[in-house]
Amino acid sequence: MVKSLHFHSTRKAILALRVSSLFFLFSSLSSHGHPIKAHIFIYAGCSQEKFQPSSPFEGNLNSFLSSLVSSSSQALYNSFSMGNGSSSTPADAAVYGLYQCRGDLKILDCSRCIESAVNQIGLVCPYSYGASLQLEGCYVRYEHFDFLGKIDTSLRYKKCSKSVSNDVEFFRRRDDVLADLQGAISFRVSSSGLVEGFAHCVGDLNPTDCSSCLADAVGKLKTLCGSAAAADVFLAQCYVRYWASGYYDLSSDSSNEDDVGKTVAIIVGVLAGIAVLIVLLSICRKAMSNNCSY
Ligand SMILES: *[C@@H]1O[C@H](CO)[C@@H](O)[C@H](O)[C@H]1NC(C)=O
Repeated sequence: MVKSLHFHSTRKAILALRVSSLFFLFSSLSSHGHPIKAHIFIYAGCSQEKFQPSSPFEGNLNSFLSSLVSSSSQALYNSFSMGNGSSSTPADAAVYGLYQCRGDLKILDCSRCIESAVNQIGLVCPYSYGASLQLEGCYVRYEHFDFLGKIDTSLRYKKCSKSVSNDVEFFRRRDDVLADLQGAISFRVSSSGLVEGFAHCVGDLNPTDCSSCLADAVGKLKTLCGSAAAADVFLAQCYVRYWASGYYDLSSDSSNEDDVGKTVAIIVGVLAGIAVLIVLLSICRKAMSNNCSY
């Protein structure tokens, strides 16, 4: 009786192992091959000023962050103001903020990206009165002053890859792509030959201001990155990126490594599962003659 009970629990353990490695395999596969690695970190900026824990500001910030998560399952962009003009909280506790998902994200991927950004922003910018976080698929910003809808073309982040020299064809095509992108009024993807790029504005810019923000970004990109094979320029309210197939891109390279890492992890996991299974079975088989326990 004791014997068969022990044996039964061994089989249960093996079944659980098998099921969990299968689950691991499937859950990894479903995220594999996703078109956009929305959660990849691009940049963050934090205010120097810090707020006190449990202050009215923190309360407003927390309600802003939870509004982001719920709103991002409905729309790719939204802006918020919390605690301004209400008499119950002091005026300096107001929080103004917004989020913007990339124009080609499905709404489900948008809310996943925002969830990831909300989880990261407090870690990257602890107790900050203002913070911006740009991931590959979405952008979140909050401040304790009202910046919503106000033109701001300050440079937030740039990345220039190695230079291409003497490739007239490449520069002609790149300039075509950039000229097309700076006419965008929200999100636009453009390509010419091997050169591809996209541009995006935050939703609090109207179409005219979006185009002039993008023209500014293209100008800065040409000045700062010159003859780069790939470049990203992020201003406070818009960004422009281009690359040549084959040159790009640090982020997608590292995500490929990510996938290799995942695949290795899956193989190691499955092998470990099989090894444990074999060990358990052999222990059990040996022990069967006297007592199958371990
Ligand atoms: C709070 O700020 C928002 C954004 O600027 C503005 O639209 C709104 O009118 C303000 N509310 C009050 C009560 O001042």
